[in-house]
Amino acid sequence: MRVLNFGSLNLDYVYSVDHMVTPGETLASYSMNTFCGGKGLNQSIALAKAGVEVFHAGLIGEEGDLLLDTCKKGGVQVDYIRRVPGKSGHTIIQVDRNGQNCILLYGGANQSVTKEYVDEVLAHFEKGDLLLLQNEVNLLDYVIDRAYEKGMMIVLNPSPYNEKLEACDFGKISMFLLNEIEGAQVTGEEEPEKILEILKAKYPHAKVVLTLGKDGSIYQDQGKICRQGIYPVKTVDTTAAGDTFTGYFLSSIIRGMSVEAGLRLAAKASSIAVSRKGAAPSIPEREEVEQALKGD
Ligand code: RIB
Repeated sequence: MRVLNFGSLNLDYVYSVDHMVTPGETLASYSMNTFCGGKGLNQSIALAKAGVEVFHAGLIGEEGDLLLDTCKKGGVQVDYIRRVPGKSGHTIIQVDRNGQNCILLYGGANQSVTKEYVDEVLAHFEKGDLLLLQNEVNLLDYVIDRAYEKGMMIVLNPSPYNEKLEACDFGKISMFLLNEIEGAQVTGEEEPEKILEILKAKYPHAKVVLTLGKDGSIYQDQGKICRQGIYPVKTVDTTAAGDTFTGYFLSSIIRGMSVEAGLRLAAKASSIAVSRKGAAPSIPEREEVEQALKGD
């Protein structure tokens, strides 16, 4: 089984602030860093660091060399990444003293996906291969339809949630990985149990991993439910914690681990990511995660 992640690559411009800037306020930041990120890139790097061979497809702009190099150095297969005219995707991220963030996203090259490019990439994959998607590239509905026709297993992290997802046929998704905010946006319910109930009723064949911040995560597959708590750490920067969880949990499924062990691995990996600055640079290697689990 080959693994394809069709997703965004962003330059993250990260500003450390006392508090999130409010309307009309001018706020001085006390440090600024540029990191590689994008939900797509982060999840590919998490998969690769977890030991999975992953092919990334996505678009970078004229100044996207750092994104490409970061993927290569992170062990991601980059043959299907293309460069297009214009700017790469980027974000402006504020991180406050509690490590919480808020993110302003500019899609840039990530929004220039064409049907021809999708067809060209998918031609290299076949029935039984796994496709991972987030919602930071355009034509997601087209990618889902074509991949489903081929018989690929489609895993969706519907993040960030917006109206474009309404064009997608969620009945074609084999697994959803989402947080409680996205869960509420998809189902209209706030309570985790209700979110899971609605997802099960609407998409009975889909597995679901619902992450709940400090309350951990819940896995649901038809009648089966597994729960996992968090590993508390001092929060430095939550950016990419969810992406780390997604990549690591998916790696556990691909490697045939039990759901319980996979949730544990993912929770530990994301706790390490939260204790470090930046998106891609905060994602730990598998060996470090396994060592840390042994210490618990
Ligand atoms: O999930 C974190 C990511 O979201 C950041 O790296 C940023 O680029 C945004 O896409």
